[in-house]
Amino acid sequence: MKPSDFTPAVKMKSYACQRRTPLKHHNLFLTDALETLAQNAEFSENEGRSVAFRRSASVLKALPHVVRAMDELKDLPCLGEHSLRVIKEILEDGTSSEVESTRQSEQFQAMKALTGIFGVGVRTADRWFREGLRSPLDLIHTGQKLNHAQQAGVQYYKDLNTPVTKKEAVVISDIVEKTVKAVLPGAIITLTGGFRRGKEVGHDVDFLITHPEEGAEERLMPKIVNCLEDQGLLLYQKTTVNSYLESKDGPARPASNMDRFERCFSIFKLEVDSETHAEGSLSNSCSTHHSGSTWRAVRVDLVVSPYSQFAFATLGWTGSKLFERELRRWAGQEKAMSLSSHALYDSKQQRYLRANSEEEIFTHLGLEYIPPSERNA
Ligand code: GTP
Ligand code: MN
Ligand code: MN
Repeated sequence: MKPSDFTPAVKMKSYACQRRTPLKHHNLFLTDALETLAQNAEFSENEGRSVAFRRSASVLKALPHVVRAMDELKDLPCLGEHSLRVIKEILEDGTSSEVESTRQSEQFQAMKALTGIFGVGVRTADRWFREGLRSPLDLIHTGQKLNHAQQAGVQYYKDLNTPVTKKEAVVISDIVEKTVKAVLPGAIITLTGGFRRGKEVGHDVDFLITHPEEGAEERLMPKIVNCLEDQGLLLYQKTTVNSYLESKDGPARPASNMDRFERCFSIFKLEVDSETHAEGSLSNSCSTHHSGSTWRAVRVDLVVSPYSQFAFATLGWTGSKLFERELRRWAGQEKAMSLSSHALYDSKQQRYLRANSEEEIFTHLGLEYIPPSERNA
């Protein structure tokens, strides 16, 4: 059989939003390595380098087979020289020396531990690292000045670094659903983020809330938060009001990716079944109260969106982060459009394009619809 008799492999598209990326893929041994280098680049605030590694990893996630040899990569997009060098080393030696030395470096480990504290970003972690601090305990011992978020982050460090299970997410969904509907009957609550993409675990639980009657959702968040607080369900919360209402300058085309919805970063106090709890390895900040009632801290993000922006908000909060980034890059570079979690603006037509569903947004963007479970770029 001549080579031309083979069905040519489907050419991999270069934007992650043009591809299907399942949750479980075949090249974890390579993507983990590349994502370590991406994270390390983030720690040194080298965004370009970080995104380059993340794009490389993402291409490998979309492959339908295990990569065994370098020549299988020759027609793939986004694989830069550095990524290829790392992949080659792993294929030949089983590991990459750069990745291993990164993982073992004191700086990488300290930055991981410190940015793993809720409320601590790269800048702060880096300053602490340069001052000689390495872990959350060091912050306590040296009496570092912490803001409220960071205090909660240190206090619940262990719990917040214990992955949230799908089961826990479902329990929290129930609580949020009941609470929101008590405050605003007819409200719609959607689980977004990683769990909507089919993940089994997450670092938090994300919800998007709206109401079919436009305007009914205004100033809803403080009411939800009060109701949750009255039930003793919140260990921490920070609510940000909708800057959109204040600005009154029409749909947003924000300079940054940050959107302007009413949102709440919170830490839930989740009752844990004492039997499950005894079997598990949770400890530390999980306190035992009375008669075997135990709880643990779980990060929960709540976002309220007006109904007219709900499709954009759903798309924007489902992720993955790279998928979102690629959608916005596609919109800008290929379509002269500007996509946010609020709206889609068409620069050529000089107007906003409406959408009532995610499918319509993909259509506006000239993209094949990719369901949430295939957005794990
Ligand atoms: P895990 O929580 O680790 O399971 O992953 P995740 O994909 O759920 O990540 P995360 O909870 O951090 O974010 C969920 C989605 O919300 C991602 O697509 C993010 O891009 C998006 N997101 C997070 N923060 C913001 C924000 O401030 N503005 C906007 N527009 N999107 C955000
Ligand atoms: Mn999440
Ligand atoms: Mn989140």
